[in-house]
Amino acid sequence: MTRANGLDTELLESKKKMVSGTYLRNAWYVAAWSDDVAEGQLLGRTILKEPVVLYRKADGSAAALQDRCSHRFAPLHMGKVINGDRVQCPYHGLEFDSSGACVLNPHGTKNIPPRAHIRGYPVTEKHKAIWIWMGDRPADYSKVPDFSVLDNVPEMHATKRDRITIRANYELIIDNLLDLSHTCYLHDGILGNSDTVESDITVEREGDDVIVGRHASSVTAPGLFAIFMPSGPERVDKFTRMRWMPPSNLRLVTGICMPGAVPESGTGYHAIHMLTPETDKTTHYFFTAVRFNVLTPDDQVNAQIQDKIATTRRFAFEEQDAPVIEAQQEIIDASSTSLDLVILAIDVGPVRYKQILHKLIRAEAVQ
Ligand code: FES
Ligand SMILES: [Fe+2]
Repeated sequence: MTRANGLDTELLESKKKMVSGTYLRNAWYVAAWSDDVAEGQLLGRTILKEPVVLYRKADGSAAALQDRCSHRFAPLHMGKVINGDRVQCPYHGLEFDSSGACVLNPHGTKNIPPRAHIRGYPVTEKHKAIWIWMGDRPADYSKVPDFSVLDNVPEMHATKRDRITIRANYELIIDNLLDLSHTCYLHDGILGNSDTVESDITVEREGDDVIVGRHASSVTAPGLFAIFMPSGPERVDKFTRMRWMPPSNLRLVTGICMPGAVPESGTGYHAIHMLTPETDKTTHYFFTAVRFNVLTPDDQVNAQIQDKIATTRRFAFEEQDAPVIEAQQEIIDASSTSLDLVILAIDVGPVRYKQILHKLIRAEAVQ
């Protein structure tokens, strides 16, 4: 564990570029929430700059193909799912199976040229999401990030599985999520407040995961948190513990507890942040939340809290985080000189994850 006030020379001297413009390819990314891909429908989505079409096979399992027909490059998501597992191109009717093999050419001799086959991507469905493996190496199904907090929870305590697009590189969003000091300013009054600026920061590493904790003692609870403990004391401890799992999935435990008590005794929610690069400068941001240690017994109150968490978080990400992050991206793009960060005590987590992510990306490139 690294205490933030014990910044080492390596970190102080770190002059990392804010965005690398590269990706880890042999890894799992969320392609869609499970609910987003209905039977018989085709969903087109760009992932790591590649057009992908998602659909469900006759047995209900998910499949993903390159969303570009090999003939004249029509997008397959404008076509149809036919005969159970096949996708038919909307333009001249070539048909592809779920592996990407072209299985029907309705024209002329009906010969299928070898180059007619397209790419099929490994997918798996877990934790209410469809995950896609973008690399060329065999998919490692044991490496789907652990979001089991989403499994088997009462729907009443889980919020809408939501998504927005942020017009910025995914690394800028990880930087945002691994340094939650910004909640005191950008989300003042709802997710943080001036009381929570002063927090004990801890940074841990578990394998390739980086976990950043913030603990603010004896503070007034920010708006969203106050409603979890309606008859709570005037002052509480507020805790956040954000885990980054390579390449770009994050799981947060956050809440409030009695002053001096252990966070496990408190109440709050698991916040899920799954980032999937769309392009170098746009990111699919999937999010949801699940409450834990619920102290409010009334169903009507819980329904209101469920709605409040969902709308507050969407507002915070879309109306407060996104404008700043997108403006950062514009400033970085417009700069004609190289940009070196000033590293503060709050940056230990962001620097640590970036070192690991870039090391993994470099290792993949030379293998
Ligand atoms: S573009 Fe798909 S069959 Fe012609
Ligand atoms: Fe934020």
